[in-house]
Amino acid sequence: MKDKALGDAYRLLDASLIHYRDRPVGTAAAIDPTGLAADNYRECFIRDFAVSGLVFLADGRWEIVRDFLLTSLEVTEREHSAPEQTIHHSVMPASFHVRREQDGKEYLRGDFGEQAIGRVAPVDSIMWWTLLLCATMQTIGDRGLAERPDVQRNLRRVLALCANDSFEVYPTLMVPDGAFMVDRRMGVYGHPLEIQVLFFGALRRALHYIDRSPENRRLIAVGEHRLRGLRQYVQHYYWLDVQRLNELYRSPTEELGESVSNDLNIQPQSIRDWVADWLSDESGYLVGNLGSGRMDFRFFTQGNLLAVVFGLVTDRQARGIMNLIERRWDDLVGTMPVKLCYPALTGEAWDLLTGCDPKNRPWSYHNGGNWPVLLWPLVAAALSTGRRDLAERAFALAVERLPRDGWPEYYDGTSGRLLGRYANLQQTWSAAALILADKLLEDPGLLALLPE
Ligand code: GLC
Repeated sequence: MKDKALGDAYRLLDASLIHYRDRPVGTAAAIDPTGLAADNYRECFIRDFAVSGLVFLADGRWEIVRDFLLTSLEVTEREHSAPEQTIHHSVMPASFHVRREQDGKEYLRGDFGEQAIGRVAPVDSIMWWTLLLCATMQTIGDRGLAERPDVQRNLRRVLALCANDSFEVYPTLMVPDGAFMVDRRMGVYGHPLEIQVLFFGALRRALHYIDRSPENRRLIAVGEHRLRGLRQYVQHYYWLDVQRLNELYRSPTEELGESVSNDLNIQPQSIRDWVADWLSDESGYLVGNLGSGRMDFRFFTQGNLLAVVFGLVTDRQARGIMNLIERRWDDLVGTMPVKLCYPALTGEAWDLLTGCDPKNRPWSYHNGGNWPVLLWPLVAAALSTGRRDLAERAFALAVERLPRDGWPEYYDGTSGRLLGRYANLQQTWSAAALILADKLLEDPGLLALLPE
């Protein structure tokens, strides 16, 4: 069964390849045969390609990844050099595609959020790009790619995120709603966890590969300072376990001055009712978002898992996160790994925070749907904490069901039993995630592609 599933997954991955000047430079997000998928699913999304790219690297097909990195960079550089452009200088496109004109010529077109549904800014693109650059460098071991002037310019764009030209007071990065995998309104504006974790990973790698020349000295100093601050801040302020919950519950509020215990002025009354019982001893997690007077208690899976993989949390916290997944398996994995966030927004919160979005109704899509793509970070996090048992258990669920259902984008329902209401079939990252999960299980040494 496993061989057949993987064979199917590879067929889908290969069929999704997008070519430019006769070379594969990316993968389409989906090749849904029903024709119901939105038009832009035929494009190559940077965050989606990160999963395909890791598979290609593991298979020694690194040229595809290099060509993807340079092609998406070409789209970025062109956009940023246009005199009329107003896009933030550190933004890469959410997706790009190759347009073939009647004269036979090919043109690259990027979507920097100005064509996306709801016009959302893809802040995570440059972070995924940097992670993949680093994984490529790990694989080919030659610094030539990183030393290219265009690649160096992009690394400077990552570091430029740290230069304080916003109204930021924390070491975390402030973004608008829908700036990452959750690319619709979901109350994830401000300082969503996933962005902080990707920022940490990308910043660290950009600092590793940036040219240490005098002209970069200031950016490097600011970046290193930010990286240290970010790690301490996330480990301290985002972390929630029973002990921390008790502290919060009895903490004073309205404190002024430098050394106070509740500096973000989180009101104990804002603790959601479900949290205390959901957390068990020996477990904990990073909360979904944090700001002044605001703690979003939702569990966002990708941010928590990547924080484990990237070493953003302590060993004890990493074990706590994996314990939570084990103890709350029915809530977080159910019948299909893994739920994007828990719990779903319902009632008035759904009205206000999603803008009554029918695609994101409770326990569907981003709002508590189960996403097969999240299998690979689960397997990676489980293996890096010695929890192979959890990785195998999750893999067994996915390998049995995904090919049978036609590689859906997501599943609905509290336990993921329903095929997603508007889910595409033949979704590339669902297939790539299964392949990558299998590769990691077969050879945990591949975790070195995403070094701590
Ligand atoms: C949806 C998802 C986004 C993904 C894209 C392509 O917009 O929300 O995360 O990148 O589809 O699969």
